[in-house]
Parts: sequence; C-alpha cells; structure tokens
Amino acid sequence: MVTQMNEQNSQFQILIVDDEPLIRESLYEILRIEGYRVQMAPSAEDALEQLKKNPVDIVVTDFKLPKMTGLQLLEEIKNTYDEIEVILITGYGSIESAVEAMKKGAFDYITKPINDNEIKIVIQKIADKKKILEENKALKELIAKNQRPSFCDMIGSSHKIQSVYNIIDSVASTNATIHITGESGTGKGLVARAIHQTDVHRRNKPFVEISCGAISETLLESELFGHVKGAFTGAIKDKEGRFEFADGGTIFLDEIDAFSLGLQVKLLRVLQDGVFERVGDNVTRKADARIIVATNQDLAQLVEKGDFREDLYYRINVISIQMPPLRERREDIESIVNFYLEKYSHDNKKKVTSISNEVKKLFLDYTWPGNIRELENAVEGAVIMAKTEIANKWDVPSLAKFEKSPVSSTRDEKSLKKVVEQPEKEHIISILNDCNWNRNKAAATLGINRTTLYNKMKKYDILDK
Ligand SMILES: Nc1ncnc2c1ncn2[C@@H]1O[C@H](COP(=O)(O)OP(=O)(O)OP(=O)(O)O)[C@@H](O)[C@H]1O
Ligand SMILES: [Mg+2]
Repeated sequence: MVTQMNEQNSQFQILIVDDEPLIRESLYEILRIEGYRVQMAPSAEDALEQLKKNPVDIVVTDFKLPKMTGLQLLEEIKNTYDEIEVILITGYGSIESAVEAMKKGAFDYITKPINDNEIKIVIQKIADKKKILEENKALKELIAKNQRPSFCDMIGSSHKIQSVYNIIDSVASTNATIHITGESGTGKGLVARAIHQTDVHRRNKPFVEISCGAISETLLESELFGHVKGAFTGAIKDKEGRFEFADGGTIFLDEIDAFSLGLQVKLLRVLQDGVFERVGDNVTRKADARIIVATNQDLAQLVEKGDFREDLYYRINVISIQMPPLRERREDIESIVNFYLEKYSHDNKKKVTSISNEVKKLFLDYTWPGNIRELENAVEGAVIMAKTEIANKWDVPSLAKFEKSPVSSTRDEKSLKKVVEQPEKEHIISILNDCNWNRNKAAATLGINRTTLYNKMKKYDILDK
C-alpha cells in the first residue's frame, strides 16, 4: 500500500553516485522503500551526463570516486544547477573534507558506515525545505496575481494599501457608515470617493463632500440639513441641505471632529433613523445617503475628554478604515512618483519621465509627514522646474527638507544601527504578512531559521497578527 508519505516522496528524484556497487544498491533500496524516485551513477562524469538530461532534486555522492571526486562534482553541480541539493558521503574521521564540502554548498554530509536512519532524515529535511520553498513561490505568485497596482484613483500595491482596497470592496455594497482615519494627506478623501464609485447602487447618484472644519457651526448645520426662509439673518429663501441633495448617493463628512456637541445629536439622529429637519423648520424629512466620515484626530481621546459623544462614536466606528502613512508603505513611493510625473507633465505640457537616482534615494529615505499630498506637491514642483526629461536634485523644491529628513534628526536615529534596523523590521513584517504570519514560511523566505526570526520579532516588538 502506498502511504501518504510515500506519495509525497515520489515527487522527489534522487541520484546516487558511488563506484562501489554494493553501497550504491543498498542506498537505492533504502530510498526506494521510502518512496523516492531513485537513479544511480557509478562515476561523477556519468552523474553529470545524467543531470544534463534530467536535473534531479538531490544528489547523494561518495567523496572518493575514480576520476573526478565527489567534491568536484559538488562544485560542478553548484555552478550549473541552483536547485539541486547535494549530500556527501565521507569516510570515517575525514572531518576536513566534510567541512570543505559544507563550505562549497553541500546540504549535509554523512559519514561511513552509512546509517539508514541518518540518510533518511537528511533527505527528509531537504524534501521539507523544497516543499516550503515551493509553497512559498506559489503563495507569492498568488499574492502578486491578486495585487492591484491601483484602485479607483489610488495608486499603490503595498500590502497595507491592498487591505484598504479589500475593505472598500467588501463594504461598498452595504449601507454601513464608514469611518476613515489617518494622518493628513494619506488619501482619506480618495477612499471615500472610491467607496462611492464601487457601490453599484449609489455611484450614479451624487457624491457630496463637506469639510466640516472649514465652516462655522450655524452654517454647517444649514449646509447639512438646509434651512427655511428667515431661519437666520441672511436666510432669504428656503434651501435644501446636502443630506437631501445626496439622497440615494453618498455624503462624506470630512473633519467630523469639528462637529459641536449640539450638531452631534442631530447627526446621531440621521444615522439612526435617517431623519432631520431644516433649520427653522418643523417638518421632519428623510434622506437615504450613505454616510462616510473622516478625521485625523483620535476620536476615542475626544470621547474621553467629553468633546465627542460616546454613542455617536460607537455608531460611526462600526467599520473603520485606517489609512497607512506613506512612510509605512515606502514601496509605493516609486509608482506614485511615476503617476504624478505623468500627470503633471501632461498638465504642464512638458515631458519629465523620471527622477534621478539621487532624488529617488532622498524620496525613499524621507519620512513624508504630509504623506501623499506632500509627495504629489514635490513631484509637481520638480516637473515644473526640470529642464530635461529626468528631474534632478536641483529641480526639487525645498530639497533641504528631504536632506534633513526628520528620520535622521536625532543622534540616536542617525546611528547606523537604526538606519539598518528600520528597513529590516519593515521587510520582516512585510514577509510575515505575505506568508500569512506563518513563521516557518516567513523564515524560509527570509533565509533565516525560525529561532532567528523569533528573536528578531522580539527585538522589534513585532507581535503576532
Ligand atoms: N494612493 C494614492 N495614489 C495617488 N494619489 C493619492 C493617493 N492617496 C492620496 N493621493 C493624493 O494625495 C492628495 C491628498 O489626498 P486626500 O485629500 O485624499 O488626503 P486626506 O487624507 O483626505 O488628507 P486631509 O486629512 O489633509 O484631508 C490628493 O491629491 C490625492 O489625490
Ligand atoms: Mg481630505
């Protein structure tokens, strides 16, 4: 009966190289029983011939062979075939040759007399390693295939922005209130629009955006809910509010933290029952608009201070989208730069196709406190200034800012250690994410062992997802 293990093992092909028929055949038997596909060669030369026709997964070779030695065979194999693992069989006590073999890239060595179990274990280790690498490759391909380089007007393929795209996909068809948080310039406005555009039932209806922080309280109330003639000085005729206008569509309330406590009550009522009155009116009106709110403040903190109603907070916080700052998705910088080079070249009737490597490096190192808006502005400036197709350092306005990046502003952060560690940490997190936080896989991808990965996670305070 073929066991499950044997079935898996039958995917692996092993070549045994030994001039002594007895050893060759006994190894053949041991590995055949384990279910591996096995072939044999009496010399290194013969082995290389066979590999040309059929590059196997594993070569098990004796050290001492008639002409070309096992060590030379190892070298040949490592020069030509990346993926073949080699195990050397050494005579008892020849530790130097074993060390030499390891240095030249052997997977392991086994000393004579050959112990059945030992060879089985080493081969199993290789099989495990290959399986993990293969799974990893498949996973990476899958991830790459599912990665969108852009979504609506958003550019970026980093895993952080991918999860934003995915949330948008899944909430778009619902009526849920969405709370977008994130630093200034991270794209909160774009996300709100993307939700509207992805929502098949609402996208042909209005998308209404209000910057709540920019308007006084009385005006804001009348903007949102409308007013009747004479409701206040200047209200010379009845006016429809934005909620009514957005009926069937989406209303995006930016800087929601600017709402006074009084207005918060009215918003809560709209959220719960979809009803409101125009200022100065007593007719209760209804409007069905999906509500999206955004803030760059910590609302929970405002609740604690008593500046924001707790019930409203819970009501709007059902689904929240956290926009990552640009410095946490630096891998997107290049594609965003290219996008804006093209856009501003077109707008300015110029042709600036790239930024110099020096500028690229400055951009990649900078912390971007103003996030994408700041990057967009920097690129626009560079396009306007550039005299050639490549924007150079001297074309970038406020260059000094990039050179004195806040990243390296303190002595501690300037240290080589910090400069080296930050990208390492980011890379580890990104690979962990790619591997769905499977540490075995992540460690294999990173080319380190599990313990090292674990220690690094501890050192950088990377918590399991
Ligand atoms: N992923 C992105 N790709 C390309 N451009 C982007 C992206 N995200 C944001 N932008 C651009 O950056 C600028 C700022 O975006 P947006 O206004 O949406 O940010 P915000 O988070 O709402 O900022 P604020 O809190 O200051 O209102 C806009 O011009 C927007 O088009
Ligand atoms: Mg905004």
